Amino acid sequence: MKSVNPVKMLAALAMVFLVSSVTEGRIISKCELKEKVEAAQIEVIRAMGDKMTQTELTARLVCLAGATGFNTSFVKTIPAKPKEYKPFNANSMKLNATQRLVWNLYGVFQLSDQVACDSGMKPSLNICNTSCTAFTDDDVTDDIACLSTIISSM
Ligand SMILES: *[C@@H]1O[C@H](CO)[C@@H](O)[C@H](O)[C@H]1NC(C)=O
Ligand SMILES: *[C@@H]1O[C@H](CO)[C@@H](O)[C@H](O)[C@H]1NC(C)=O
Ligand SMILES: *[C@@H]1O[C@H](CO)[C@@H](O)[C@H](O)[C@H]1NC(C)=O
Repeated sequence: MKSVNPVKMLAALAMVFLVSSVTEGRIISKCELKEKVEAAQIEVIRAMGDKMTQTELTARLVCLAGATGFNTSFVKTIPAKPKEYKPFNANSMKLNATQRLVWNLYGVFQLSDQVACDSGMKPSLNICNTSCTAFTDDDVTDDIACLSTIISSM
C-alpha cells in the first residue's frame, strides 16, 4: 500500500487553490467581449436616442469596459454623484456619511453595488438579484445579462 505524504498533499491542495484563484479574473480580449455582447442582443431602448443602433450600443459597452482595462476582476470605489444618487434617497437614509458618499463598481462593466448587485455592505436596488462578487469572476455572461436587465428597466 502506498503511503501518502501529508505535507505533499497539502502542497498539492495549495497549488490547486492558487491556480484556481488565478483563473478567477482575467483580461478579456476586446473581440471576445464584443462577440459576447453581440450574442446577448441587448435591446436598444428609446431613452438612448433614436439614432442609436445595435452596433453602436455594442461599441459603447465595449468602450465602457475599456475603462477597466478589460479586467474581469475590476473593482473600484468612486465618489457618488449626488445627481445620479437622487432616485435612491430612500435607501440612503440607512447609510452613514461614508457609505453614502461612495459607490463600489464591480467587473468589466463597472456594475454598481447600489443599483445592480448586493455587496452586503449597503442597501441596494439589486436589480440583477445577485451578489456583486458574481461580476468579478472570469465569466462575463452574467455581467452582460445584468447590463441588459438594467437597460430594459430604465
Ligand atoms: C484587475 O483588477 C483587480 C481589482 O481592481 C486588480 O487587483 C488587478 O490587479 C487587475 N488586474 C490587472 C491585470 O490589471
Ligand atoms: C460607516 O459604515 C462603515 C461600514 O459599516 C464603517 O466602516 C464606517 O466606519 C462608518 N463611518 C462612520 C462615519 O460612521
Ligand atoms: C433572487 O434570487 C434568489 C436566489 O438566488 C431567488 O430565490 C429569488 O426568487 C430571486 N428573486 C427575484 C425577484 O428574482
